Amino acid sequence: MPRNNDTTLRWSDVTPRPLWLNRRQLVTGAAALAATATVALPASARIEATASRYSTDAEPNSLSDITAYNNFYEFGTGKEDPARYASGLTIDPWSVVVDGLVEKPGTYDLADLVKDQPLEERIYRFRCVEAWSMVIPWIGFELAGLLNRVGVQSGAKFVAFETLVRPEEMPGQSSRFIEWPYREGLRLDEAMHPLTIMATGLYGEPMPNQNGAPMRLVVPWKYGFKSIKSIVRISLVAEMPPTTWNMLQPSEYGFYANVNPTVDHPRWSQASERRVGSGLFAGREDTLMFNGYEAEVASLYAGQDLAVDY
Ligand code: MTE
Repeated sequence: MPRNNDTTLRWSDVTPRPLWLNRRQLVTGAAALAATATVALPASARIEATASRYSTDAEPNSLSDITAYNNFYEFGTGKEDPARYASGLTIDPWSVVVDGLVEKPGTYDLADLVKDQPLEERIYRFRCVEAWSMVIPWIGFELAGLLNRVGVQSGAKFVAFETLVRPEEMPGQSSRFIEWPYREGLRLDEAMHPLTIMATGLYGEPMPNQNGAPMRLVVPWKYGFKSIKSIVRISLVAEMPPTTWNMLQPSEYGFYANVNPTVDHPRWSQASERRVGSGLFAGREDTLMFNGYEAEVASLYAGQDLAVDY
């Protein structure tokens, strides 16, 4: 569950990992919120990231869990394919097209697009639609900050995202079962919610390629497929945009894809989940409504039937 401004130590304050050294002093309360860790973007600028009240207290998965068990179909459909093949992806230079109903459209160099965004560490629960889960210490900034910078026009109701198409570096793109690019979308109020981040790193380091370098979306109350990786286009649009899994299997994957233990996938239950790395004999955990972020996001869906808008 999200943390409040509490005074207790968190796992990362006491974890003997050199990356956390900048804030391993015994920080409490407001001091914890102000504590900083130095991280680097691929563009090589050293940046400060602050801890966040939105982080969960749960202990994160190991770096090897997070970087060895992935879904990134541009590199193949196996869980190990991204770790095997993504190192061949060129992530610098990287540019992002911002277009549609926006005041300052353009093709932005990534470093320019993110340069004034305050980086935070957000330790988030992550729940895949396949019923496995992890806890991941992302480094990122609120998508709202980026959208405010480029200026959202009043007619915009949704944000659409696209991943890079580069078959020569993304061997999975030789298969056509997905109509590339991988696409995702959010309603504008979901995109502006403070829990919604653009992540540029994890575990205090630049984003590993297999996790969506150099920049990917993270929406912690939705199934993981919404958290699109290696983004090259952000479009502000008036209509609900097409999204990859909904295009492939509309009866199985909706646009909203909010984590919901009461709405099963047609082929399996969503009531519980397997925590990756929890050991062969560990029990399954109950899946939480909105993945544990109900207090923060339920109001976004007031009046909607989430069994219909799944
Ligand atoms: N983004 C792109 N471009 N391609 C993908 O195949 N897979 C999604 C999502 N983002 C995917 C993607 C799915 S199904 C999940 S569960 C998460 O990425 C996995 O993120 P992780 O590998 O960092 O855990």
